Amino acid sequence: MTSYDLTLEWPTGRTRTIEADEDETVLEAAERAELALPFGCRTGACGTCAGRLLEADGSDSTVAVDDAFAYRRDPRALKTRHRTAGYVLLCIAMPRTDCRLAVGSRVHAELVENPWK
Ligand code: FES
Repeated sequence: MTSYDLTLEWPTGRTRTIEADEDETVLEAAERAELALPFGCRTGACGTCAGRLLEADGSDSTVAVDDAFAYRRDPRALKTRHRTAGYVLLCIAMPRTDCRLAVGSRVHAELVENPWK
């Protein structure tokens, strides 16, 4: 089975590199490595688990996020503009390349528009 190296980066500067199998989601691989990432529905509906692709296969985030991951089901919580900007739902996304991802609850907050701004 093919596996990929995923480097996870938190806003605090903490980083961890984990290995994920091609049939495993990023969230499942993180849990296997005993790392806590935020999640809610685990079905692609809420967006709580969102991460952002920073680098894929040694290239910067201009690599399409849809080439870097395969989804187990429709990522309903993401709009097209989110996917274009590199956001990915870690609960249903299975890697297709080595990559570096921003993770943590702040990534989900980036998806939600502030009505008071
Ligand atoms: S946990 Fe709800 S979309 Fe991933």
